[in-house]
Order: sequence, then C-alpha cells, then structure tokens
Amino acid sequence: MQLSNMENIILGKIITVTSGKGGVGKSTTTANLAIGLANLGKKVVAIDFDIGLRNLDMILGLENRIVYDIVDVMEERCNLAQALISDKKAKNLYFLPASQTKDKNVLERRKVKKLLLVLKEKFDIVLLDSPAGIESGFEHSIFLTDHALIISTPDVSSVRDADRVIGIIDAKSEKAKKGETVTKHVIINRIKPDMVEAGHMLSTEDVLGILALPLIGVIPDDEDIITSTNMGNPIINKKKSISAESYRRISRRLLGEEVEFLELKTKQGFFKAIKGVFK
Ligand SMILES: Nc1ncnc2c1ncn2[C@@H]1O[C@H](COP(=O)(O)OP(=O)(O)O)[C@@H](O)[C@H]1O
Ligand SMILES: [Mg+2]
Repeated sequence: MQLSNMENIILGKIITVTSGKGGVGKSTTTANLAIGLANLGKKVVAIDFDIGLRNLDMILGLENRIVYDIVDVMEERCNLAQALISDKKAKNLYFLPASQTKDKNVLERRKVKKLLLVLKEKFDIVLLDSPAGIESGFEHSIFLTDHALIISTPDVSSVRDADRVIGIIDAKSEKAKKGETVTKHVIINRIKPDMVEAGHMLSTEDVLGILALPLIGVIPDDEDIITSTNMGNPIINKKKSISAESYRRISRRLLGEEVEFLELKTKQGFFKAIKGVFK
C-alpha cells in the first residue's frame, strides 16, 4: 500500500472530498470523516460547497441550527463566528452551511480564497464537501486544495467520471499552476463483496487500475449508512459497524498513520473484518 506521500501532511490544510458523478457518497463521506478527524483531536471545519443542494447539514443533524451560510459570510452579511455551527457530539467540529440560493454561480473566486485562507489559519483541517465535477462550484472547491479525496463507486461510469475529475484537479488547482502537486487518494464507496466475488462488480483492483492513484479506504454498501443519514447521526458514531470502522481508519490514515485495510468479504461479522486491530 502506498502511503508514502502522506508523510508530508501538515496541519492547517484543506482536504476536498470530490467525485465526477453526483450521488456517490461525497456528503456522507465528508460528514463521517469530519467527525472521525475531530474525534482524533483535530480542530475541524466541514464546509458544504454544494450550493443550492444543501445536505451535509442534514447528515450531520444540524439543519435546524442554520441561520447564516457561506455566502452570507463571503458577502459580509455576518461574521464567521456567527455562521459556524458547532457539532452536537464531536467537540472540535464546526460546520459551515451551503447557501440555498438557486444561483449556483454566487461563489466568487477572490472571496472563496479569502475565506478559505482565514479558515486554514483557524482550523487544523478544512474539509470541503464539493459538488460533482460537472457542477459550476466544483472548481472553487479544488483550486486551493492540498489534498483531494476522490470518491468513486465501483461502476464504470463513476470511475470514468472520477478519472476526468483527476485531470481537472491536475490542470486547474492553484498548486498545479505553481508546479506543485495536489495529494490525491481514492475512496471506493458502496462495494458489495458478494457481487465482486461473483465477478459482477468492479473490484478495488479494477478501480485502482483505471484511476492509477493510491487507495485510502473502501467503504461497503451498507443500509445502516442510509438509516443513520436519515437520523442525522453519522454511522461513524456507531461502535460495532464495519463501515464505521472503515471511516475511522480513513481518518487515521489522513493523519499519516499506517493502518491495515479491512477485509471486506461476503457475510462476515464485524470482528472478522477488523481482525488485526487487536493483534
Ligand atoms: N456506503 C454506502 N452504503 C449505502 N448507502 C450509501 C453509502 N454511501 C452513501 N450512501 C447513500 O447514497 C446516497 C447519496 O449519498 P451522498 O453522500 O448524498 O452523495 P453525494 O454527496 O456524492 O451526492 C445517500 O442516500 C446516502 O445515504
Ligand atoms: Mg452531496
């Protein structure tokens, strides 16, 4: 497993959760990793960049607390402290909501940059939930990023669109323009081990073969994720859950730790999958 390019991770960094296609699990991943990183002691701000399609707030269970949003801050209708919402459970986790405006082009590059640089100073990790690669806000969410997490489901169209997004990150991010590289990792979401075993679904190796990037985690397809999303209580808060454990391990890997990968196999219990943890 290639974890070598994680060694130079320093704090005060921007991590963008992105994908080519919509509906592949970006917001779910952002919510769970934000909590995972905060539980590891980092001061985290999760930002919903998906203008018009607010839903990170619901996954985090914070939708009733929203008064101001990211556009209010950028337009100086309120200050940052007024707009930041603290998470109900995870100490150190703050959330900045997306605007519900129908105008998807409200974000201005200069103002986005100013805000992100302020947040980078105040937080250890700025986690951006980006719109899909085809949406207009997408470039705003990657141009200042230090680290991109590319989410793909194991199906051909999702992988192909993810590949296109990787090309855009390499071409359009500020780091790329300065000749530096953005750290990139793949998260494969919604793997169904029985389908992979039967040869009906792309395997992890298939996906990585196409994207040619290092893997940082695989999350199984899990109905409990949908239930927990609907309840506004991300799955990572659940102890004995394989998907929760997957998110916890990705969080640790993001902080540079080398953590074994879970074995995702058909019909196996939690303790079998996490073997190795207690070694
Ligand atoms: N690993 C998973 N297993 C089952 N359902 C998932 C998984 N990841 C995401 N989902 C579900 O897929 C849908 C889309 O996820 P979401 O995070 O909103 O995607 P995106 O932000 O990329 O549009 C949601 O209903 C979510 O609960
Ligand atoms: Mg989303």
